[in-house]
Amino acid sequence: MLIDEKFMVLYVKCLQKCGIDIPKTLSPKLFKSYAIYQILSSIKSSSIQSPLSTAEFGVFRGVTSMLITTILEIPNQHYIFDSFEGLSKPTKEDVEGSTNPASGGEMSPNFKHIQNLFPNSTLQKCWIPSQLKRVNALFDFVHIDLDLYDPILGALEYTIDKANPGCVIVVDDYNSRWPGCIQAIREHLSKYQNLYRLHYSTLFGNFILVRK
Ligand SMILES: C[S@@+](CC[C@H](N)C(=O)[O-])C[C@H]1O[C@@H](n2cnc3c(N)ncnc32)[C@H](O)[C@@H]1O
Repeated sequence: MLIDEKFMVLYVKCLQKCGIDIPKTLSPKLFKSYAIYQILSSIKSSSIQSPLSTAEFGVFRGVTSMLITTILEIPNQHYIFDSFEGLSKPTKEDVEGSTNPASGGEMSPNFKHIQNLFPNSTLQKCWIPSQLKRVNALFDFVHIDLDLYDPILGALEYTIDKANPGCVIVVDDYNSRWPGCIQAIREHLSKYQNLYRLHYSTLFGNFILVRK
């Protein structure tokens, strides 16, 4: 087993802080979180610039935002964008070919709970992409976890001119349950591939892009 103990201790702490039971089996979520942990640890140790700014699009119960803010120790430079009303309505890109399509409204975060967990972060309650407002920040790490075509495409476009050189963007849900996610990334890259230094997918369903 290659997952290191330091990560496991941190991950369990983050789950507990967010009020989530510790899973009894290894899950793709654990491996995806480990990939994020490795990226953030590397950003932290190689960065000469401080403080770093980060964002999460789609927070639900807060685990990934907890990982981000705990690893980077930057509670006041983290931005959270979410409808706080769950998933938006899936479009045909999300439904056609999905192994288990969503119907909308699932995974709704509790605004007060998230505010209490991240008192120093900036929360933007908005539908993505239609209600996204600009924020005064340039990001070094972005996590996009919105499941669906329309908001993922919008969040990727929003991030284009809000990313510092070298910014790592991790998109979740790059798998057959979420064909809209795969299509959004394809469309985004067909227009903007030249803006990225590299991009790749992992076996567990994160898609990773590094900004030039
Ligand atoms: C899979 S959950 C996020 C999980 C979270 N990143 C974590 O680590 O536990 C998806 C989130 O996206 C939000 N969401 C989905 N569609 C949205 C949209 N169109 N606009 C804004 N938020 C949306 C939901 O409210 C939910 O919080």
